[in-house]
Amino acid sequence: MTANVFSIAHLSDPHLSRPEPAGWRQLCNKRALGLMSWRRRRRFAHQPAVLDALLADLQAQRPDHTVVTGDLTQIGLPGEFAQARAWLERLGDPQAVSVIPGNHDAYVRENWDHTFALWREYLASDGADSWAAADFPTLRVRGPVAIIGINSAFAADPLRAVGRVGPDQRARLAAMLADLGGQDLFRLALVHHAPVPGVDPWRKRLLDCRETAGVLAAGKAHLVLHGHDHRTSWSKIAANPDIPVVSVPSASFGLPVSEKLSRYHIYRLRGAAPQWHAEVEVRGLRDGNFVELERRELEIPDYA
Ligand SMILES: [Fe+2]
Ligand SMILES: [Fe+2]
Repeated sequence: MTANVFSIAHLSDPHLSRPEPAGWRQLCNKRALGLMSWRRRRRFAHQPAVLDALLADLQAQRPDHTVVTGDLTQIGLPGEFAQARAWLERLGDPQAVSVIPGNHDAYVRENWDHTFALWREYLASDGADSWAAADFPTLRVRGPVAIIGINSAFAADPLRAVGRVGPDQRARLAAMLADLGGQDLFRLALVHHAPVPGVDPWRKRLLDCRETAGVLAAGKAHLVLHGHDHRTSWSKIAANPDIPVVSVPSASFGLPVSEKLSRYHIYRLRGAAPQWHAEVEVRGLRDGNFVELERRELEIPDYA
């Protein structure tokens, strides 16, 4: 067996902030429902102590890089973005942590400068001197890994949590993957919603799931990580060869519901282009502590 060349921790949906609206104007929209749902139910499920325990365990594992696949906030208020920024700084330096948005972070249309700009160093492509919403997908190269950040979050209508990548971003993604095809990098794609039909419930699905999966397959992605459904799922984009697609539960979920209880994954890459290998370690809560729950070898596509 060849030695590990790079390790990546994946956590998702920390839903870590306390929404504190700065006046009724911020609630004259879908946020009123979201705030009610958080006060009645979600704040009991997403527990700061669980997230703290995960953070301590993750830092003890010393991954080379950590990726966070969205939903850091509850209803995407600017104040929540500031809380999430402080948490990201605890998680690590922007050089060691990459983030993409989730649908809760784009709950309603909001001023970019007061929201995502606060996470800029964690979101933006390497060397980006100006940066805005249109700059997705992002590209960050860490060790032998090209980390491609896809944005599927947009302000959907109330009662739906659907996502969309959109034709413009898909065209940029295709061009980026084509460019990367000539380099000996492991192509890791991050997207909040599952790019596989049937993984997310209908009300929460990625609207252009098939088109996005088609671009990832044509562009020869090696692995896709997502969040959103707050469960572990092991699926694949059916292609030739298949591309593994894996999600994790919410990093802060602390209620005793076994398939939703907090977990994170560590991917340990071995080998080199064109033949990569990856083992994934599942770490999750058991009796109040984060422990290893499972290890499995992923079938990474060989594009030789
Ligand atoms: Fe979520
Ligand atoms: Fe989500």
